[in-house]
Amino acid sequence: MYKISQEDIEKVRDLSDIVDVISQYVQLIRKGNNFFGLCPFHNEKTPSFSVAHQKQIFHCFGCGKGGNVFSFVMDYQKISFPESVKLLADKYNVDIKKNAKTSEPEKYSILYELHEVAEDLYQKNLFSKKGKLALNYLKERGLTIDTIKKYKIGLSFNIWDDLVKKFRGKGYRRKYIEESGLFIKSKKGVFDRFRSRIMFPIHHLNGKTVGFGGRIFGSDDMSKYMNSPETIIYKKSDILYGLNFSRSAILRYNYTILVEGYMDLIQMTQAGVEPVVAVSGTAFTERHALALKRVTKNVLLLYDADSAGGKAIIKAGWMLFKTGLYPSVILPPSGKDPDDWVRDEGIETVKASIEDPLDYCSFHLSFYNAKNLTGAEREEYILNLSKNLVNIDNKIARNDLIRVFSQNLILEEKELINLINKNKTKSITNVELNSEQDKSSFSSQVDKAQFELVKLLLNEKKSTRQYVKDKVSTDLFQNPVLKNIAEKAIQVSENNFSKIIENIPDNEEKSTIIKILMEDLGNVEAEEIVSDCLKILISAPIKEKIKALRVNIKEKELRGEDPSIDIFSLEKYRKKLNEL
Ligand code: UTP
Ligand code: MN
Repeated sequence: MYKISQEDIEKVRDLSDIVDVISQYVQLIRKGNNFFGLCPFHNEKTPSFSVAHQKQIFHCFGCGKGGNVFSFVMDYQKISFPESVKLLADKYNVDIKKNAKTSEPEKYSILYELHEVAEDLYQKNLFSKKGKLALNYLKERGLTIDTIKKYKIGLSFNIWDDLVKKFRGKGYRRKYIEESGLFIKSKKGVFDRFRSRIMFPIHHLNGKTVGFGGRIFGSDDMSKYMNSPETIIYKKSDILYGLNFSRSAILRYNYTILVEGYMDLIQMTQAGVEPVVAVSGTAFTERHALALKRVTKNVLLLYDADSAGGKAIIKAGWMLFKTGLYPSVILPPSGKDPDDWVRDEGIETVKASIEDPLDYCSFHLSFYNAKNLTGAEREEYILNLSKNLVNIDNKIARNDLIRVFSQNLILEEKELINLINKNKTKSITNVELNSEQDKSSFSSQVDKAQFELVKLLLNEKKSTRQYVKDKVSTDLFQNPVLKNIAEKAIQVSENNFSKIIENIPDNEEKSTIIKILMEDLGNVEAEEIVSDCLKILISAPIKEKIKALRVNIKEKELRGEDPSIDIFSLEKYRKKLNEL
């Protein structure tokens, strides 16, 4: 991923216009200072989605989504922050590539270039005379020429230096050649890593080739597939094979099918099932799950119908739940993989199973024959469940799983919950912390005071903002979210609302803050509010001290000790409080 300088981000922000951008996707009607339309993030019949032109922010009063121009593009297109900056930069002709500040910017582009050259060579090989056998093999496996070209499948010859020759004398630095993963270094020199293999290029989401999976062809090498090693452009745990092709279909269908093999994916998409991605040559990782979460939360696991495939489904499923996604399972007939299944029984049969997937619990229970387990095996199964359930922060999903597993195992839900809680204390999880945060939304008096001050700091009137800036120090802010906003509001010279709301974690508070921003706050009596709020904020720590001293005094009295020092301090604090 390219790194974009702060300067470029500012430039893009300044040049973009939120109404202009959102109008591309949502019909907006002007009403007063703001624009209104139907929210693109939830279903509604009357418009509660509004865009404040001057402030360059949007907010939906229906679903609570809101943010600036970057967050809109990120949420709408389901892309990352840098990708959203890039997209807007393209729209507004801001050149951000040139000053991309990576440590060795040329290294990336050279590694991409090496892969492009390799991909071309392998494709040319496949369609050459010497590639005929391999091409026939692919055709026999049911692939059309169109499909072969779409996925840029190629062939590496059984030659040690076919690719080496392409680069020799072209002025590429040896270091980059070695780091590309396309070669093997030995004492005698550098050789082609892939020989006698059908080559499946692995693409980044941006379409660039970053590695290869090579299937053995015409030689009896031990390993069926050989994959590129990790390089700076190919991070195995980040990349899902085929996602660059299937992304828009996944968004459209709001689910993806996850398969294990290159051929599985290619066969399915060729037959017209579009939303498919594959893990290639690694286990399914959390980062894979996060990459999928950007496009959908629904993942249908379609792995090989054998015991290795089953175990992989179990693992991937827990990982998906842990990351906040929802797995279900599609099972090919025993012993088959999706590729065989499509070829042997036709795509309609497969589609019927896709329409009616198995829920994860049922698969789990039947894979381990859980309902028939007894004694130690049953205990082990249930313990294992609890260890995985404890990792699921998504309370709705977790409670549903607890309920269904307990019902099926004829186990008290309470018992399973107890086991889960035991695991919790063992692993000092942050579950407790999370539930603290859930409560938020500025309910205490101290929070409310900070909230009122933030509102004033975001007031349209410069004089009001200035008054608060002069009177209030952010040291008094204890709520991290509000402190963050207050600090930004003070730093940002003109009221750049779009910038102030950047980097607030997406939660209820963000929504609350954007809601304030959407209001026209206009004329308020700043002086009175500020003095009230300051009183609350300054008195809060004093009240805490008084409370603590009271406890101390009581304890000392109980122990028969002399509490007079504490009584003296208590009086001092009381006086301070009265003077406020
Ligand atoms: P499989 O062994 O199921 O192969 O591996 P396959 O996909 O059915 O291959 P074909 O149909 O015989 O051509 C599934 C996936 O696991 C990875 C590859 O990504 C493969 O597509 N794999 C497999 C490896 O990385 N290395 C191996 O040696 C085998
Ligand atoms: Mn196969």
